[in-house]
Amino acid sequence: MTLLYPKIYPKRLHLELTSCCNYRCIICAHRYDNFLGENMSDAVKNTVINELIPHATQLELQGTGESLLYDGLCNIINAAKKYQCELIIITSASLLDKEKMLMLANAECQIIISMDSAIKSTYEKIRINGDFDSVCANIDYWKYVKNSLPSDNKSFLSINMVMCSLNYTELIEMIDFAIVNGAEYLFVTEIRPCAIDKSSWNSLNLQEIKKTDDFQKLIAEVKAYAQQKNFRLVFNFMTDIEKEYKRNICCSPWEHVFVFASGDVSVCCEVPMIFGNLNKSDFDSIWNGEKLNKFRASMAIGDYSDRCKTCCLPWGITMDS
Ligand SMILES: C[S@@+](CC[C@H](N)C(=O)[O-])C[C@H]1O[C@@H](n2cnc3c(N)ncnc32)[C@H](O)[C@@H]1O
Ligand code: SF4
Ligand code: SF4
Repeated sequence: MTLLYPKIYPKRLHLELTSCCNYRCIICAHRYDNFLGENMSDAVKNTVINELIPHATQLELQGTGESLLYDGLCNIINAAKKYQCELIIITSASLLDKEKMLMLANAECQIIISMDSAIKSTYEKIRINGDFDSVCANIDYWKYVKNSLPSDNKSFLSINMVMCSLNYTELIEMIDFAIVNGAEYLFVTEIRPCAIDKSSWNSLNLQEIKKTDDFQKLIAEVKAYAQQKNFRLVFNFMTDIEKEYKRNICCSPWEHVFVFASGDVSVCCEVPMIFGNLNKSDFDSIWNGEKLNKFRASMAIGDYSDRCKTCCLPWGITMDS
């Protein structure tokens, strides 16, 4: 029964500090439906800082917004540093000036920059409002910042590319860009349908392209190129098909919390379930509440939600490690 009624806090926090953004990328909800976004309230921020971060070992700043726009970012980073919480941020790098880069690096942050293309015209076609040259200038700070850090500092930079019909032929250029800029990894994530309108989805997705021999040949060549350069390239392809289960239980409902800018609480960014709102309830009553315990109980007996069956997160029930 302790499995269902844990008296512990989650080890991993994923925070959407804001769902506002200065970009309108064609791959993202911000491009569609007049999605304005909101900032995490001070009350929720205080719960995160005083109650959740002290118990956490890992904090990831992501969600459908740009964390560097959030006023209280510095407080969150200081709290992560104080409690030696491993820090990860996913950012467009549009606002990542030298000062912010230093602040993140000093907190030993893993900085993941969303690039989508190393070619200006493609980048600006996808990342609407984005200025390729100024983002490249920001990324360039990394070399100087990295060199100014103590040798035992664990901060590192990676690039995330969302692969769609507009950029999948540019993978080699992206690898070269990542290497030149001192990135440790290039993550290539296949575009997912989240909140994209139907006609845009039809023109951007890779569902048909993926089935062709040419695509498979291209991916094999790109993998060989990365290997030859001794560079870490990680693909994350999408599937709607139920995957084979690699384990019976995912740790998310017990160990992982996702807090949205609205204060809504879930256990990951995949499962479309909200278990409560931190603007209305305290954390304990959500984390140990009936709705989340019911979700845990279902998972414990192998009655998985549909999204769990196609989960693409590394620790989900369909993944190896
Ligand atoms: C929503 S963004 C938020 C952080 C920040 N604004 C950024 O762009 O890096 C988080 C990550 O999701 C990726 N992303 C956005 N739309 C996506 C989609 N339709 N499919 C897969 N990944 C997507 C972004 O490229 C980014 O790497
Ligand atoms: S920068 Fe990030 S949050 Fe903003 S529109 Fe692009 S993908 Fe979405
Ligand atoms: S299996 Fe995937 S979708 Fe389900 S709870 Fe775990 S991380 Fe979330």
